[in-house]
Formats: sequence, structure tokens, C-alpha cells
Amino acid sequence: MESQTFKVILLGDSSVGKSSIVINFCEDTFSTSIESTIGAAYILKTINNGNKEIKLQIWDTAGQERYNSLTLLYFRSSQGAIVVYDITDKTTFERAKLWIREIREKEEQKTTIALVGNKTDLKERLVSTERGSKYAKEEDLLFFETSAKTGEGISKIFLDLIKEMPKN
Ligand code: GTP
Ligand code: MG
Repeated sequence: MESQTFKVILLGDSSVGKSSIVINFCEDTFSTSIESTIGAAYILKTINNGNKEIKLQIWDTAGQERYNSLTLLYFRSSQGAIVVYDITDKTTFERAKLWIREIREKEEQKTTIALVGNKTDLKERLVSTERGSKYAKEEDLLFFETSAKTGEGISKIFLDLIKEMPKN
């Protein structure tokens, strides 16, 4: 079987739900008592796509500020980046924009970036869909809104990224 490997990194503030998104996608579960990531976690997920085997090497980084200087080391040679914010927290949206700027500065080849507004199951929304999608359009990013709790929109992030990432 033909096989393709992609490296994907998740970035964003602490608590926005990066690990929850990965766990929902890889294991189809959700927990409120998940622990904050230390450094970064690596997960390999294999997907069968017709006659192709797609291997996703997923780097789930730590959002806590003290790890920030390390985070972009994991970014090297990534074809895709998933930058996550929490739709109930405006500062996480501003922080997502900073990560995207950093990616664009450091990338050696064009990285496919997915901007993800997570926690759509919560009622206290403070970042509108329009605001997120407008920014994504301006910066040439894929855009998704998701809930790692209900699973809404999660697999679409990864499937659309696979379609758009540079193949080498
Ligand atoms: P760091 O590892 O510290 O960078 O955080 P993280 O971005 O990996 O966040 P994590 O997945 O650990 O989730 C933080 C908290 O938010 C946990 O209590 C999760 O249960 C909760 N959470 C994550 N996604 C969602 C969601 O879509 N909806 C709701 N309601 N809660 C969520
Ligand atoms: Mg985490």
C-alpha cells in the first residue's frame, strides 16, 4: 500500500483544548480532568484513505508560557500546524494570531495552517465566527470551529489538512 507521512503541530494557549482535540480525534473520548501538557506529547495516528495509508505524526505542544521558547523547536519540518483558541476567551484568539505570525517568520516551506476556535459547546462565546473566519481568510488559513467535548468538527480539521498539506 502506498504510504504518506505528515508532521502536524498543535499550538495555542494553555487550556484551549489542544490535547482534548487530539484525544477526541485519536481515541474518541473526552475528559474534564485532563492534565496540562508538559513540554510536548507525540502521537502517531494512521488513517486508511482508500488505497493510501496516511501517517500523521502529531506534536501536541504545551501552551503554558514557560514552555514557549521550546515550542517552535517542535515546529521544524512540519507540513501542517493547528493553531487553537478558545471561543470564550479573547486573549487566546490574540495569542493564536501571534503564533501564526511566528510560524510565517520561521517556516522554511509554506506550512498549511488550520485556525481552530474550540469549545463551541459553551454558551459564553466572546469570539464570533465572523471574526475568526475573516482573519483566517486574510491570512490564507483553513478555518474550523470545534468542540472536543461533543466531537463536532474535529475529524474535519485533520481530513482537510491532509488534502491541503504539501506532499513530498
Ligand atoms: P495545555 O496542555 O496546558 O497547553 O492545555 P490544552 O490546550 O492541551 O488544553 P486541554 O486539552 O488540557 O483542555 C483544558 C480544559 O478544557 C480541560 O478541562 C478540558 O476538559 C477542557 N476542554 C477542552 N476542550 C473542550 C471543549 O471543546 N469544550 C469544553 N466544554 N471543554 C473543553
Ligand atoms: Mg495539552
